Amino acid sequence: MSGRRWTSLIVLLTSMALTYCAQVEDPCKTKSRVVADDKYCDKYWECDNGQSIQYDCPNGLVFAGKHRGVTEGCDYPWRSNYCEYPKVQINPPIGTEHCDWLYGIFGHETSCTRYWTCWNGTATEQLCIGGLLYNENAHSCDWPENVDGCQKHPLCNEDPNGNVPLGKSCNRYWQCQGGYPRLQRCPAMLVFDRRSLRCVVPPTEDCDVPTTTAPPPEEEPQDQRPIPQSKRPVPNEYQDVQSRPRPRN
Ligand SMILES: *[C@@H]1O[C@H](CO)[C@@H](O)[C@H](O)[C@H]1NC(C)=O
Repeated sequence: MSGRRWTSLIVLLTSMALTYCAQVEDPCKTKSRVVADDKYCDKYWECDNGQSIQYDCPNGLVFAGKHRGVTEGCDYPWRSNYCEYPKVQINPPIGTEHCDWLYGIFGHETSCTRYWTCWNGTATEQLCIGGLLYNENAHSCDWPENVDGCQKHPLCNEDPNGNVPLGKSCNRYWQCQGGYPRLQRCPAMLVFDRRSLRCVVPPTEDCDVPTTTAPPPEEEPQDQRPIPQSKRPVPNEYQDVQSRPRPRN
């Protein structure tokens, strides 16, 4: 082999080795100037002053893409296949009270209807409404039958097939079906009677004849279905628990 051939072979091998080492695209050559790491789903590369710099997602989050995810281009790992094999999440969890990671959504220690949202290690208690329970797998409120270990709702403890008043509402009530509560509305012109636990012709002790005007929009039972993860629950309907608003960052 001639010297020249050796040289070209070495050049070829060197360029192959370089290609192999630098699997990550140079973020400075991309339009977004941000690229995912090739091994770790919680790391990414950003072009800073012409240099490619590696960054970590906030603890508990993984890289989703520029302007995507919940903060800094990072998202909850369970929201997509961000960490699919062979990619792994490399940073260990940093836990605080109620938070397994600094960012995330976590189950409550003692309640099936409550859960925690954690933002930079600060936990905020959230409440599932509309008879829903927190589903650890879905990271959101869900129908009780989908939530292992919490199938029956305490609302229906007294009578698994009875009706339960909903706060001071004259119109809506809970109907327990085999221990699962369902939000119900009395037929027009009837009111829920807290004594007989039925819809009756008003007036009752607590409720007058309903007005004929339509109820304001927030009175609509929007909580018939599971609450999308992106929405925080509206203030609760249980009388005994207060939910605090989630801080907005
Ligand atoms: C997160 O909290 C720490 C201290 O608790 C603070 O120093 C840091 O600036 C916070 N980060 C964000 C992004 O809010």
